[in-house]
Amino acid sequence: MLKCPTFICFSFWLFGALVNSFNRSHADPIDGFCLVPLTESNFKLQKPYDTPLEQRYMYKIGVHKLWVYADDKPHDPYSHTQPRTEIRVEGLDYSSGVWQFEGYSFVPNGTSGATIAQIHGAAHGATTFMLAVYDGDMRYYDRDLVAAGMYDKWFRLNVIHDVDGGTVTVYIDGVQRYSTKDRGPGSGMYFKCGVYAARANISYYMESMWRDIKIYKK
Ligand SMILES: *[C@@H]1O[C@H](CO)[C@@H](O)[C@H](O)[C@H]1NC(C)=O
Ligand SMILES: *[C@@H]1O[C@H](CO)[C@@H](O)[C@H](O)[C@H]1NC(C)=O
Ligand SMILES: *[C@@H]1O[C@H](CO)[C@@H](O)[C@H](O)[C@H]1NC(C)=O
Repeated sequence: MLKCPTFICFSFWLFGALVNSFNRSHADPIDGFCLVPLTESNFKLQKPYDTPLEQRYMYKIGVHKLWVYADDKPHDPYSHTQPRTEIRVEGLDYSSGVWQFEGYSFVPNGTSGATIAQIHGAAHGATTFMLAVYDGDMRYYDRDLVAAGMYDKWFRLNVIHDVDGGTVTVYIDGVQRYSTKDRGPGSGMYFKCGVYAARANISYYMESMWRDIKIYKK
């Protein structure tokens, strides 16, 4: 047992308290979550059905680059959806619990009207949640502003889906930027990221890059 004068003990206590309060104000969205191990088989790529993958997707030194054109075909010949090149997290479909998506993303200036991340599946409708970029603004679908000035920089995105609590919360660079009700639990919900053309205000070329994609759960 280390003997120390009271004032030094107090200094240690004060230092600890300061570090702790600093720490708390910088709470991380992944605090209290467990990492779910992923392998290549958890990343399924969707791209225009008539186009070879290498013409819409590249993986280099840990970075996934996905792009699509406004006049591309949908991912499936029988689908009437907008064109997309997306990574679909596979094998972890959920319908309850608290799940979190994390990834570092880069959206180049020029890409507009593109959904870059989504939670697929809902009680009503096809999706629970979409994050799209329009003219550098990140929006919840084409509505609420989540964050402005998102072009040409890497940012850390965390999306927490509390299915039991019915909420979706968005963090950019560790800071909470948006929270909304979800759309009821769907039977098989999953995260996606990449580029999926919106219905309007679409640039001809759409691109996003992703690295360090992780899934956590409580
Ligand atoms: C700061 O927070 C992190 C994560 O919550 C924790 O692992 C670490 O022990 C904390 N550090 C201190 C000094 O409290
Ligand atoms: C995108 O780049 C153009 C040309 O450099 C510039 O005029 C425009 O302000 C940029 N847009 C955003 C939202 O940063
Ligand atoms: C789409 O374009 C219209 C017409 O320019 C504009 O009024 C609207 O705000 C745009 N929507 C978004 C989400 O940028």
